[in-house]
Amino acid sequence: MASKDFTVAIVGGGMCGLVCAYALAKAGILVEVFEAAPEFGEVGAGVGLGPNAVRALDRLGVLSAVLARSEHSSPVLRPFLFVSGYDAQEVIYDYSVSDDDRGLPIHRAAFLDAIIGISDMKIAHLNKRCIAVQHTHVSATASDFGSTLFFSDGTSHRAHLVIGADGIKSTIRKYVVDPLAGDAEHNTNRNNKTNLAFSGSSAYRGLLPNSTVVAAGVKIDLTVQPVCFCGIDRHIITFPIQAGRIINVVAFSTITRDNSATGALDELPHPWVQPVAKQELVETFETRGWGADSDAIKLLNCMENPSRWSIHTVEPPLLSYVNAARGIALIGDAAHGMLPHLGAGVGQGFEDVVVLTELLTHPETNLSNLEHILNAYDSARRPRGNMVLEASARMGRITTRYGKSGYSNEDMRTKLAGIWSPVWHHDLHEDINKAMESLREKCVFKQAESS
Ligand SMILES: Cc1cc2nc3c(=O)[nH]c(=O)nc-3n(C[C@H](O)[C@H](O)[C@H](O)COP(=O)(O)OP(=O)(O)OC[C@H]3O[C@@H](n4cnc5c(N)ncnc54)[C@H](O)[C@@H]3O)c2cc1C
Ligand SMILES: *[C@@H]1O[C@H](CO)[C@@H](O)[C@H](O)[C@H]1NC(C)=O
Ligand SMILES: *[C@@H]1O[C@H](CO)[C@@H](O)[C@H](O)[C@H]1NC(C)=O
Ligand SMILES: *[C@@H]1O[C@H](CO)[C@@H](O)[C@H](O)[C@H]1NC(C)=O
Repeated sequence: MASKDFTVAIVGGGMCGLVCAYALAKAGILVEVFEAAPEFGEVGAGVGLGPNAVRALDRLGVLSAVLARSEHSSPVLRPFLFVSGYDAQEVIYDYSVSDDDRGLPIHRAAFLDAIIGISDMKIAHLNKRCIAVQHTHVSATASDFGSTLFFSDGTSHRAHLVIGADGIKSTIRKYVVDPLAGDAEHNTNRNNKTNLAFSGSSAYRGLLPNSTVVAAGVKIDLTVQPVCFCGIDRHIITFPIQAGRIINVVAFSTITRDNSATGALDELPHPWVQPVAKQELVETFETRGWGADSDAIKLLNCMENPSRWSIHTVEPPLLSYVNAARGIALIGDAAHGMLPHLGAGVGQGFEDVVVLTELLTHPETNLSNLEHILNAYDSARRPRGNMVLEASARMGRITTRYGKSGYSNEDMRTKLAGIWSPVWHHDLHEDINKAMESLREKCVFKQAESS
């Protein structure tokens, strides 16, 4: 027996979509996941989870399964070390963490395996690329509430609630940005606003064995903590995974955006991922004064067959994460795809899942009040999701202004101090309580007995 009188369809089976499906299914809600790819998988790289991400996973009941697939028996302290990219081993700032600030580095594929391992995968469908959502003609009755998803293989699926977990290139986002986009009578092409823009940053990613890095003469120990090499318009972030045997490396090259020329970078550089010659990668940094003998350049020289990824972000930030009247909600990158500079993207997605699932599974939630529930989710999550999106961009503006007449070490220390605090130290419980309270005030939920 289903616990609710509504059905849910999740579009996208990435880290956020699969965790959301697990949490809803565990609560007895009828949910199905539709993933475009032929199999569940993530591009082979590590992902860093901050303390707030770890707490969200704990609250969702998946932390032990995730830990079991990581190299750690419990979350770990991950103090970031900021160093100069120009030459050897000049430490700029050692970001101190308290004993409570425990995060987790994990391989993306291992994370998905952990969730798949505890999920009933009968609810998951592969090779299902959603290309359109059509809203049922709205009449006054709740039984008409819902949407039909259309897939590229010609099939379709109907559900009361659609959750867009389809990442930065989200198809579902359009139906939230343009509230009429899913109407049969509405010309969908009228408004092509996607709130998607090239960030100005490109990333070169690699997973390097520690032994290779050491053999190449890199002096700084990259096996113990995350390190950020800083410069002008260039920076590199590394963190150890698999107990330090593998170093996850992401090198960023950024075009400074001129804010006065709004829209100058709206043209998306294609393709999004492109193989580049190693020499091009190395020169990209050397031309900005990074010395050939520096640890950073030696590290880049270890990257075999690098690819350049154009990093896109949700921009401008969404004015709503839901189309409540149509029963559509966005989670994860679909809602707030951000620059990866704080390593906070997926953690915001997990927080979305916590808030949305706690609201949906509330005993008083049902089809007749779903619209109010979605609005409560939006109010609880959007300010914070958009705040972290903005903070991630600010972090990029700090790490790419270092030295060679930019920021001094002292400037950097001042700007970096406490930068993760609002992301890591946040009371999600409080957000959920406020959402519940507002639903009681609107008489969607019954008033507490005492009042
Ligand atoms: C270089 C880089 C480094 C990063 N490092 C970190 C980090 O250290 N820490 C961190 O927290 N975050 C990091 N991020 C961000 C993080 O990767 C994202 O926030 C996270 O993957 C978002 O998860 P998601 O489930 O919302 O979306 P995704 O992981 O993008 O998953 C979306 C899924 O939807 C599917 N899909 C897409 N369109 C459709 C469709 N139309 N129909 C059906 N299925 C569809 C896709 O195939 C995919 O499986 C990084 C990002 C980049 C680019
Ligand atoms: C929107 O996109 C469609 C399909 O790509 C195109 O045919 C249409 O002209 C676009 N509309 C606008 C207003 O740009
Ligand atoms: C990294 O590699 C070096 C050289 O091979 C080795 O001495 C060191 O123990 C390795 N560290 C880890 C954590 O694997
Ligand atoms: C839905 O929930 C509301 C609030 O708890 C309740 O008043 C209403 O009767 C419920 N409707 C159905 C069809 O269960």
